[in-house]
Amino acid sequence: MAAAAKPLAATALPRLVIRLDRLRHNAARVVERGKAVGVEIIGVGKATLGDPRVIAALLAGGVRGIGDSRLPTLARLRGLTKAPLMLLRPPQRAETPQAAQVADVILLSELATAQRLSEAVRTGRGTSSPPAGRRPSSLQVILMVDLGDLREGLWPDQALGAAQQIAALPGLQLVGVGTNLTCYGGVIPTPANLGELVALRDALSARLHRPLPVVSGGNSSSLGLLWEGRLPAGVNQLRIGEGILLGRETTWRRPLPGLYQDAFTLQAEILELQYKPSLPRGELAQDAFGQTPRFADRGWRWRAILALGRQDVPPTSLQPLEDGVEILGASSDHLIADVTAMDPRPAVGDVLSFSLDYGGLLAAMTSPFVHRLYQDTPLQGVSQGKAASDGLFAEDGPERSAPKERRIRHAQDPSGFGRQCHSAKGPAGHRPGAAGQRGSHRPLSGGPA
Ligand SMILES: Cc1ncc(COP(=O)(O)O)c(C=O)c1O
Repeated sequence: MAAAAKPLAATALPRLVIRLDRLRHNAARVVERGKAVGVEIIGVGKATLGDPRVIAALLAGGVRGIGDSRLPTLARLRGLTKAPLMLLRPPQRAETPQAAQVADVILLSELATAQRLSEAVRTGRGTSSPPAGRRPSSLQVILMVDLGDLREGLWPDQALGAAQQIAALPGLQLVGVGTNLTCYGGVIPTPANLGELVALRDALSARLHRPLPVVSGGNSSSLGLLWEGRLPAGVNQLRIGEGILLGRETTWRRPLPGLYQDAFTLQAEILELQYKPSLPRGELAQDAFGQTPRFADRGWRWRAILALGRQDVPPTSLQPLEDGVEILGASSDHLIADVTAMDPRPAVGDVLSFSLDYGGLLAAMTSPFVHRLYQDTPLQGVSQGKAASDGLFAEDGPERSAPKERRIRHAQDPSGFGRQCHSAKGPAGHRPGAAGQRGSHRPLSGGPA
């Protein structure tokens, strides 16, 4: 039966509903899976701007440390946790002293960056003494190697020489090699290219006459290999954001068996509901964003305008969760949806829910207009850790209850193995996601999730 939109309290909208219990669960599942083959997981919360409750959920799920590419976020987290912090993007020159003070480990690929960091560590590890309980003497660095994706990293045949020079710098401890794939070039991690990384580590280690313990084998695009048991031996660290936050690997955006894809949902209120033609009337030029819009004549339709715009989230990142809702487009402040097929028809003031892709999550977490409603209920059979109190609570709105789950048509049982991810099934022409463009791929099988 079609789910109907229900009126909600008219405050604190639009809002992200954040299921901390599901994030904790997802983190625990990925950690468990990694642990079984000797792979530690660094949780990456950057899409949430290092939201402290999200980070606490990841840590309670057992991630070994937290990674972020933005130093200000990492600095904020430094004050909240003693967990190891990894800076995923090399510091800019002016950031070097603070990076040396805040981060436990930094991914880098330039000798000049390493030299600056070495200098910062030697002159007192940044601007002031390190926080209590932290090693004062050395900063760990991981040398990034480009296995073909053409974002950061040294080309493999240049890595040996650079590693020797970096390893000789005082104050720095070169602990291993890393790579990042399926980010810019869309290159897939394979046993072959990650095996090359392990071989490179072995060669470096032999050249330096000392162990290099870390082989950091990429991001959520490596989770397919982990799940399929094809991650090459020797890879012992993965840095995981989307895999935990949205419960899917990122080569083809396949849902990970046993994980939730709906830890985040976005809700917005209907401001206007009008019966109008589907074709504009008058002479046409460009829209508010300089594009020339195209329209199909579908006759007269019920059109809802929601209080959500491109300033909050790109409309192509959203997938409606109520049956009968079709997103038509958005301007800065208005999301336009065709709700003709909704049964019963919604009313002005009703709230509609949407799932988001990674870009949508990033944008919504960045918009100052999007509120956050945290939910945290115990899950059976999952270690709850000490992340947050049980029950429902709201951070920045007066509500103390959340919208009813039954309104969300895909609220997922974590045992729903292999279901298609949201990004792959948006209306044609609506979602440019990789899954839709690159053809179909076999779902990941269940296994001991
Ligand atoms: C260097 C690096 N490692 C890991 C990640 C995590 O990526 P993902 O969200 O695909 O797991 C990112 C991006 O957030 C990154 O830039």
